[in-house]
Amino acid sequence: MAIPSCLPLFILALSVTTSLASQPDLGYPGWQCDASLYQKSKKVPTSAHAVRFPDIKVIGALGDSLTAANGAGAPKGDPLAVILQYRGLAFQCGGDSTLDEHVTVANVLKKFSPSLMGYSTGIGSSNVWEISKLNQAVPGAQAADIVTQARALVHVMHSHSEIDIKNDWKLINVFIGANDMCRYCEEKENGIHSKANWKQNVTTAIQILKDNLPRTIVSMTGMFDMRMLRQIDHDKYFCDGLHVFECPCEKKSSFTNDDVSQACHLYMDAQQEIQDSGIFDTTDDFTFVLQPFFNDIVTPPLKPDGEVNLDWFAPDCFHFSRLGHANVAKHLWNNIVQPVGSKNHKVDLSDPTIPLNCPDVTCPFIRTTKNSADCSKYLSN
Ligand SMILES: *[C@@H]1O[C@H](CO)[C@@H](O)[C@H](O)[C@H]1NC(C)=O
Repeated sequence: MAIPSCLPLFILALSVTTSLASQPDLGYPGWQCDASLYQKSKKVPTSAHAVRFPDIKVIGALGDSLTAANGAGAPKGDPLAVILQYRGLAFQCGGDSTLDEHVTVANVLKKFSPSLMGYSTGIGSSNVWEISKLNQAVPGAQAADIVTQARALVHVMHSHSEIDIKNDWKLINVFIGANDMCRYCEEKENGIHSKANWKQNVTTAIQILKDNLPRTIVSMTGMFDMRMLRQIDHDKYFCDGLHVFECPCEKKSSFTNDDVSQACHLYMDAQQEIQDSGIFDTTDDFTFVLQPFFNDIVTPPLKPDGEVNLDWFAPDCFHFSRLGHANVAKHLWNNIVQPVGSKNHKVDLSDPTIPLNCPDVTCPFIRTTKNSADCSKYLSN
């Protein structure tokens, strides 16, 4: 018994080490913003619209395998490693290494809030506190599943006394929808993955956070147009076969590219409606803000010769690689510092020279619907 249980661990350790040496990544050594941006508010803010980046104490996440970072550290040619959850590299909530080597929203935030907690490190599942911390994403999750994840997040936060639930400001990043889209074609318009159900499930999850977590900002990464997946696995025999299992609707030829886009846009519309409804702005210490940088992208990242840049993807051509996570994290961060109404809805994923932006010194807060409409009334503290 000892040999079979030992062997995989050994192989795992080996592959992780080799991968560190060879995988492309994106980091910003020496990244600096105006000195004023590193100062906390004089008093801990009471409004979600007056939260400076150094005021954030806790980070967490809900989502699927893209947030659990499946395969992010998988060496090229090792598709089996896609079963591993490289949470420490995850764009929304990973905290392995530093911004010098690898961009994640948590690694950028650590620059402003060095005692930030809640980010994941290493490889493991959502129920392993030491690894996962407050990243409650579960591979395969659909919108209905983030309801369960929201409850789990609340429970985990309440059971760790190092988190001051009443006073600490928390940033919860949410990204969901790919697995809903992957099943969308299997039913009629009013099926379980309809826009209405999706919106209801996302709303329920966020309401659970609102009811149980004061001083929280929910930042939702906008849905992406999954038609780009078809370009990634085109003519790649292995990936093509794998996606039949990972994403049946992507492989269903009668479900056209336009059908894929249309389904994804229904979820994007649902997210926008949630924000516009104002239902999560009824108390001053909670808000919801959408980050739409993915929305209008229809082509995957390309190399200068026009071929898909597979450096961006894990060996299954679906999940993001280490570099993919860092690049997505950069664009998500840039969206977070842009005011609502002027956020990018489309970014050039192929251009690694696009800078990582600093918060705006004239409105140095996590941008929300309210401080984007009028920042001046939040500037006194
Ligand atoms: C998701 O939404 C549908 C439609 O409202 C509902 O029937 C289902 O119970 C929801 N799932 C969860 C986990 O709340």
